[in-house]
Amino acid sequence: MLRSSALFQAVALPYELLTRHPVWQRHCARMALELPRGARLILDLGCGPGNSTVQLPAGAVGGDHAFSMLHRARRLEPRMPLLCLDAIALPVRSGSLDAVTFHSVLYLISDQAAVLREKQIEEWRRDWKLNLIERDNPQWRDLYEELT
Ligand SMILES: C[S@@+](CC[C@H](N)C(=O)[O-])C[C@H]1O[C@@H](n2cnc3c(N)ncnc32)[C@H](O)[C@@H]1O
Repeated sequence: MLRSSALFQAVALPYELLTRHPVWQRHCARMALELPRGARLILDLGCGPGNSTVQLPAGAVGGDHAFSMLHRARRLEPRMPLLCLDAIALPVRSGSLDAVTFHSVLYLISDQAAVLREKQIEEWRRDWKLNLIERDNPQWRDLYEELT
């Protein structure tokens, strides 16, 4: 069987044409409605030609392991930040993102448990962290010296 990375590397252009269908675009737009309120730091995993990422708030980062897909995403929206990455080992620190999205991606990944573990960073939402600090350290003291 052709590995998913090789397959998507080869089919970027026809895939992009497919994603211009209004039904596909509506689906991707629906994903944006699921975001936590106020989410700004967003990573769209398996962004393909950028069609799912363009539906997210400006500044959302598209990530994919196929360069040809990232190339198409660059053409679609030149200002879109893009990363070449593997969804099972994200190159970002836990808790550094407000949300991770993926549209039409999970079924392609062999180690889905790994992706879902990585995706748990989504639960570290900004509001949640702010509330925790306000509760435990309302003066926002620098705790570095105490903790090390
Ligand atoms: C069916 S397309 C979905 C593209 C877009 N999100 C959409 O909704 O149309 C799946 C994309 O996921 C990418 N992908 C698959 N496995 C991946 C992995 N392990 N890491 C990063 N990207 C992956 C593929 O290269 C492809 O661009």
